[in-house]
Amino acid sequence: MNSVLGKIMHFLDLNDFDAKTLRGIVDNARRMKEARNGKPRGFREKDEPLKGKALALIFERPSTRTRVSFEMAMKQLGGEVIVLSANDMQLGRGETIADTARVLSRYVDGIMLRAAKHSNLLDLAEHAAVPVINGLTDLSHPCQVMADILTLEEHKGPLPQQHVAWVGDGNNVAASWIHAVGVMGGKLTLGCPEQLNPTREVMSWAKKAKADVTLTTSPEKAVKGSDCVITDCWVSMHDKDGETRHNLLKPYQVNKALMAHAKADAIFMHCLPAHRNEEVTDEVMDGPRSVVFDEAENRLHIQKSILLHCLGGT
Ligand code: CP
Ligand code: NVA
Repeated sequence: MNSVLGKIMHFLDLNDFDAKTLRGIVDNARRMKEARNGKPRGFREKDEPLKGKALALIFERPSTRTRVSFEMAMKQLGGEVIVLSANDMQLGRGETIADTARVLSRYVDGIMLRAAKHSNLLDLAEHAAVPVINGLTDLSHPCQVMADILTLEEHKGPLPQQHVAWVGDGNNVAASWIHAVGVMGGKLTLGCPEQLNPTREVMSWAKKAKADVTLTTSPEKAVKGSDCVITDCWVSMHDKDGETRHNLLKPYQVNKALMAHAKADAIFMHCLPAHRNEEVTDEVMDGPRSVVFDEAENRLHIQKSILLHCLGGT
């Protein structure tokens, strides 16, 4: 078990951390990425710091980036992974999350969960004797936003000096962005229809943390003068009200006209998968200001740094 003073090193939400810890994880990811420059993609780090360690990846929802980036991250660090779909486990037939946590803790050194509900993640972490990593829930997506910060800083410089605009649904990824800005600094403006604002819990956390976070219903006001415009799908994996969301979110599409309100050198980010010509036009997604594929690549580099933080390493 990896722990600091007996505390299991879970990675559940960005507002569980202080700025120094999150800064260390981002900077370490950048160093590891730079060290790999020019090396073949599947290259294993020479010192294999996670050699002998195993990570279970449990998916209650589909995934491309999270699955492949965690799998490659463990392999590059010399560790092993076991990929599990919740439906193929006894979990899918009613075994409790608590018992699953107790059992897996006897086999592996860490567990990543993509959860259908945030409470499943908390339940797993409460009963696991090994670190648990949040690979997305209905309420947050902290690993994604750590990769976003790495990407933003590569293109624009330190987060505390950036104005980030979030446009569309005030969803799980938006919540992790609010946490990130509250802990690490920077300015965040969110343009969301009132019905799809971030949760009251996350907004009251932002207020207490004195985060520079502002809500508006106007996408243009949110984007005005920003260094980076971010959006996400209109219907997340846990959402059921697709048609209502499409109607509410149509005016929030990120297109050339909306991007014109941001700074002339502003970048565009999206965690992907994108629903092209819904939340973002092809023109913006494939345009010169889009860094979405750097952002996807950075999932790999940040996962390695998160894994080293949680699992330690030699
Ligand atoms: N961005 C992201 O988490 O992608 P996947 O759903 O493919 O893992
Ligand atoms: N908000 C999206 C993110 C997908 C990576 C969802 O939860 O489906």
